[in-house]
Amino acid sequence: MGKKFNPIQFEENDGLPLMDVGIWAQKKYKLVGKYCDIFTSSMKGKWNLIYMDLFCGPGFVKIRDTGQIMRNAGLISMSVPKAFDHYILNDYSPRNMEAMEARVQRLHPSVSVQYSCKDANTCIEEILTSRPRFSNNRGTLTFCFLDPFSLNLDFETMKVLAREKVDILVLHALKMDGQRNREIYMQENHERLARFTGNPNWREKFLAGNYPMHRFCKFLADEFDVNMKKLGYLTEAMKEPISISTGHIIYYLAFYSKHPLGTQFFGKVQRGSNDQLQMF
Ligand SMILES: C[S@@+](CC[C@H](N)C(=O)[O-])C[C@H]1O[C@@H](n2cnc3c(N)ncnc32)[C@H](O)[C@@H]1O
Repeated sequence: MGKKFNPIQFEENDGLPLMDVGIWAQKKYKLVGKYCDIFTSSMKGKWNLIYMDLFCGPGFVKIRDTGQIMRNAGLISMSVPKAFDHYILNDYSPRNMEAMEARVQRLHPSVSVQYSCKDANTCIEEILTSRPRFSNNRGTLTFCFLDPFSLNLDFETMKVLAREKVDILVLHALKMDGQRNREIYMQENHERLARFTGNPNWREKFLAGNYPMHRFCKFLADEFDVNMKKLGYLTEAMKEPISISTGHIIYYLAFYSKHPLGTQFFGKVQRGSNDQLQMF
């Protein structure tokens, strides 16, 4: 891992749209950025490397508490010392995609990048079909970052990604969405968690009683992991909690790889991450 790479990169306001985040988002950016760094510095030249971000946002965020402006994950991934060979950026908001595209063109005009502005739950086949083919004999490795606001993430997307060599870092909004909306999701006609876990019978399984009600989030995380394992991903899945200043966990970043090297890399990144937040 390039020791000098700092994923926390402050920027001047360029007048384009910003996304407001809490200061705790810095931990997310550190994990993503450091994983990109270790991944590309170890694999560049041996494999064709792709960064994929299906919920990429506008490129810059504004930290609510301090007013500071920072790069988000997509732009951090472009600033690692050894860049990926190709980038795939998607967000269903045209406003965010326009801002992201303008920032990439200004800050990283020479990277190979494809943009799309679609619902991440329906576009993965199309994105994979339209990505460029490399004309060398190397295989292709992809690092996919999935960063939704909620559990509105279809497990079908994991199934498509799992056909290829893809390491996945996914934000599981278990507390922000799962816990908060448990009563709503328990209602029979609500489909979101069947789509998220990949198990249409999750409700019966939960009510069968192996998990007490207060372990609802743990149940959802385990369900997701069981189905990732069926796709060939190694478990125990590695999870990094992200907490707000009161210490309450609001979401988890869960990492999945089919190769022990992937888990080894993420383990290093986790050990190197700490909650110290950069104020200036
Ligand atoms: C948490 S933000 C992502 C932030 C960004 N990844 C970062 O590094 O800060 C979630 C983004 O996903 C987009 N989004 C939400 N649901 C989506 C969906 N179903 N398909 C595509 N984009 C979606 C939103 O417009 C928003 O920009």
